[in-house]
Amino acid sequence: MSYEKREQLYEGKAKKVYATDDPQVVIVSYKDDATAFNGLKKGTITGKGAINNRMTNNLMRRLEAKGVPTHYVEELSDRETAVKKVSIVPLEVIIRNISAGSFAKRYGVEEGIVFDQPTIEFSYKNDDLGDPLLNSYHALALKLATQDEIDLIKKYAFAVNDLLKGFMKEIGIDLVDFKLEFGKTADGTIVLADEISPDTCRLWDEKTHEKLDKDRFRRDMGGAEEAYEEVMRRLMGEQ
Ligand code: TMP
Repeated sequence: MSYEKREQLYEGKAKKVYATDDPQVVIVSYKDDATAFNGLKKGTITGKGAINNRMTNNLMRRLEAKGVPTHYVEELSDRETAVKKVSIVPLEVIIRNISAGSFAKRYGVEEGIVFDQPTIEFSYKNDDLGDPLLNSYHALALKLATQDEIDLIKKYAFAVNDLLKGFMKEIGIDLVDFKLEFGKTADGTIVLADEISPDTCRLWDEKTHEKLDKDRFRRDMGGAEEAYEEVMRRLMGEQ
């Protein structure tokens, strides 16, 4: 299949979305732009767009093969992928296996505590409000999703965690936490959408605990490009 790229529908912080000649399919185009703290910090991670595109597609294909429905259709180029057109459920779904980031800050604990069981939390995907944390009752009150959709999203999110933890362990990486987004296709089916990359996951080397993710950019640690390349190399066996 090939898709004809038509007008730009949307530009987000890290990706652009284009219409195609197929009304059910859009093209996402990954940028090298990096932001943090709700866009307050801006920069570039050179090569990130191509890495995030290829890494996301690799992981989405493997998740799909294990029974998690995704929006993935076809990789078109280094930076561009055809995906099912969905309306994004405005919930950011965050799973954590190890304390870090806003969890460590909010609850006043150190980073690196391994949990007995993963945690799940939602935030309301709304840049103007700074993506505030909410629970499923708030999500229902705001009509962001139905109870059935929330139940399904939770089930898929924990399934993704189990699978992704395994994929990362194979390449010597501990999956600390990550953020997922889900979308609804025209017929109402819930599918995993957006991306799975070092932008949206915390990935620590299992031996050295070196950070191999966007925290290197968020925290001005340097070496973000190299970290993204390292994860890509381990995952795909190439640069
Ligand atoms: P947090 O500790 O800052 O809440 O982040 C948890 C995980 O979610 C981490 O892997 C980074 C990811 N994340 C995003 O992908 N987008 C965001 O806007 C935020 C705040 C976090």
